[in-house]
Amino acid sequence: MKSINSKGIQAAITAVSGYVPSEILSNSDLEQMVDTNDEWIVSRTGIKERRIARNPLEPTSFLAIQAANQLLQKKNIDPLTIDLVLVATVTPDMGVAATAAYVATQIGAHNAFGFDLQAACSGFLYGMSTASMYIESGRYKKVLLIGADKMSSIVDYTDRTTCIIFGDGAGAAILTRETNMERGILSSHIYSEGSYAEELSLIGPSTNRWVPEIISANDPDDLSYYPYMNGQVVFKHAVVRFSEVINEGLQKNNWQASDIDMLVPHQANLRISQFIQKKFGLSDDQVYNNIMRYGNTTAASIPIALTEAWEEGKIEEGSKVVLAAFGSGFTWGSSIMVW
Ligand code: UT7
Repeated sequence: MKSINSKGIQAAITAVSGYVPSEILSNSDLEQMVDTNDEWIVSRTGIKERRIARNPLEPTSFLAIQAANQLLQKKNIDPLTIDLVLVATVTPDMGVAATAAYVATQIGAHNAFGFDLQAACSGFLYGMSTASMYIESGRYKKVLLIGADKMSSIVDYTDRTTCIIFGDGAGAAILTRETNMERGILSSHIYSEGSYAEELSLIGPSTNRWVPEIISANDPDDLSYYPYMNGQVVFKHAVVRFSEVINEGLQKNNWQASDIDMLVPHQANLRISQFIQKKFGLSDDQVYNNIMRYGNTTAASIPIALTEAWEEGKIEEGSKVVLAAFGSGFTWGSSIMVW
C-alpha cells in the first residue's frame, strides 16, 4: 500500500549499521554435523559460511544492541532523541516481554517506547512501513528500526534441510523526517497470505495443531520443536512474489528496472536473487548479495546488506534503492527509496 503523505512529511533512512557474531560456521563444519557437502550447499544456496552467536549470554537483544550502539556512535545520535524502538524478529529473547523494550532501555533510549514485530524474513520491510507511518503522521520524529535474529537458537542442527541455510545477525536503521518528497522512502508495499503458514514455520505455545513434519515424528512426547521448511514450495512462491512486489513498487513510482541503482533483496538463496536479477535485466552492480558470508539471517539480512552496500560506496546520496523480501507467513514486500 502506498503511504499517504498528507502532511508533506516522508520518512527516510539516515543511518544504518550491521552486526554479526565473530564465530564462523562454515560448510565444512556442517559436513561434520549432517549429511551434506560444500558443493551441494554452494550450488543450491550460494552460502559458504554463516555467523553463530553460540554464547547463550548473547541472545537476540545482544545482537540488536551491538548494531544499535554502533549506529548511535557512528552518527553521534543522542539515544534520548529516539521516539520509538522497533525490533523485527522471530527469535525474541522471551515469549512475553518485548525484546525492543529491553533494547531501548539498554541503549539509553529512555524516552522511547518499544515493541516487537514478527513478519519473519519480511520483518524489516514491515518495520519500515510501520516506522514510516508513525513519522508521516507527524506524531514521531525518530524511529530506531532493528532487524535481529539468532536463528542458531531455534535451528535443528541435525536437520540438513534447514541448518545449512540460517545464520545470526542484526541490522539497525534510523528513520527520520524528510520534507523533500523526492527523497526518502517513496513507497512501501507489503502483503501476507496465511494459507501457506505451515510450509515455513515453527509452532508456537498456543497451537494445538499436530504437524508431524514439525514435531519430532518418531517421538510424540518430544516437545522440542524446530523450524520446518518445505524448500521447494517456498522457493516457487518466493520468485513469483519477489517479482510482483518489485514490479508494483517500480510502477507506483514510474521507475524502470534500469533506473535502479541498487536492489537489496532479502538474502534467502543466491538462486532467488539471480532469478530476480535476470528477470529485471539487472547487472551484477545493481544487485547486492552477501548470503555467501552470512547465510539467511531472517529479519537482519536486509539491513546488514544495506549497511555493507553503503559502506562499500555502492549506495550514495541520491541512489535509487529497492528493497524486497519474502518469507514465512507467507509474507512479502518491497520498499522504494531515494537514499
Ligand atoms: O528466507 C525465507 C525464505 N526461504 C527461502 O526462500 C528458501 C527457499 N528454498 C530454497 O532455498 C531451496 O529449496 C533449498 C536450498 C532449501 C533446497 O534446495 P532445493 O534445490 O530445493 O533442494 P531439494 O529440497 O529439492 O532437495 C534436493 C535433494 C534431495 O534429495 P533427493 O530427494 O533428490 O535424493 C534432498 O534430500 O537434496 C537433498 N538435500 C540435501 N543434500 C545435501 C536436502 N538438503 C541437503 C543438504 N545437503 N543440506
